[in-house]
Amino acid sequence: MSTARIPFGEPEQIADELVERFRSTVGRDPIGCFVAPGRVNLIGEHVDYNNGKCLPMALPHATYTALAPRDDRQVRITSLQQQETWEGQVDELGPDDVDGWVAYVAGVAWAMQADGIALPGLDIVVDSRVPVGAGLSSSAALECSVALGLCAVAGLDVDHELRRRLVNACMRAETEVAGAPTGGMDQMIALFAEADHALLLDCRDWSTQQVAWAPAAHDVELLVVDTRASHSLNDGGYRARRSDCDEAARVLGVESLREVSDAEAALGVLDGRIRRRARHVFTEMARVEEAVGQLRSSDYSGLGHSFDASHVSLRDDFEVSCPELDLVVETAGQHGALGARMTGGGFGGSAIALVPSESVDQVSDAVAAGFAENGWPDPGFLLGRPSEGARQVR
Ligand code: GLA
Repeated sequence: MSTARIPFGEPEQIADELVERFRSTVGRDPIGCFVAPGRVNLIGEHVDYNNGKCLPMALPHATYTALAPRDDRQVRITSLQQQETWEGQVDELGPDDVDGWVAYVAGVAWAMQADGIALPGLDIVVDSRVPVGAGLSSSAALECSVALGLCAVAGLDVDHELRRRLVNACMRAETEVAGAPTGGMDQMIALFAEADHALLLDCRDWSTQQVAWAPAAHDVELLVVDTRASHSLNDGGYRARRSDCDEAARVLGVESLREVSDAEAALGVLDGRIRRRARHVFTEMARVEEAVGQLRSSDYSGLGHSFDASHVSLRDDFEVSCPELDLVVETAGQHGALGARMTGGGFGGSAIALVPSESVDQVSDAVAAGFAENGWPDPGFLLGRPSEGARQVR
């Protein structure tokens, strides 16, 4: 048996279908169709908001946005995944006026206007192919595809500098409108990803380095498992971890945990829960450095060990794992994976396993069987092949 994979489709074909849907829904042509990918983080979890480094890569699963300006100030937003069309006014898109999935669309339009980008009324139709609630950044994919589309509406040339501004606008939308105080990793990878590369992202100064990573060419795969266990960044757990880290930094008298040069000495000063949180951040920052070396030298068994150690730290010190994620990691290890870990914010969502290509089916089947034995819903599987970042497709 080989377990079915979550489909992602051909970008051009999805774009053509979306353009068709736009025409039939709105009654005219969109000015274009813009796409932005979901992501997994290879390593460096819960370090972005501590100014550390992380190593995300884009998935082939992406969100598509078709849009056109209107002559009036109305905004109409439709998602092919939802039943109704949301309607509002472009001048009234503030933090208190929208919630749910619309917050990620309208919130970006609001934040870009706050950044000085004037927008007309809009017709927007979106189609998300990133599994929602899977911890694969469906929200950043939505925000960033909308942001690129809005730049085209505003007639702007999207250079590197503007992409950085869009990251900030999308983070503002997510934090101030959707209510999830995320750290920026997801928006950076959505806007700066390159195919066949992971992105080494330094969240202290937002500098980036592309790190070549084409797993299939090395006979390994990154198997992504959506546990279907609920994952949400605006229900308190994520915010609580952030404030624990802020508290650790405050006690240590530093602006962020990244500034600590002697982690051992710092841990001697901290106690209890706050100490465990800081220990995760310090050890995870060190693991990112190791993992980049392992990736560059194709040392996949070493990289697998780094994944395993990261998971233990997230589970025991940071306490953001859950039984479903732990089962994926443990089962993958028993059936031939070189290493595995939860990825993203945690509290449910997805895990990644580094697996020799010939063992992918065996690992998937064993994980699916483990879920069935526990009476849990079937997990979803996909292969994490490093994909392109946000762009115009049509
Ligand atoms: C979520 C957030 C990111 C990051 C990760 C944890 O994905 O959106 O900013 O904090 O969790 O690494």
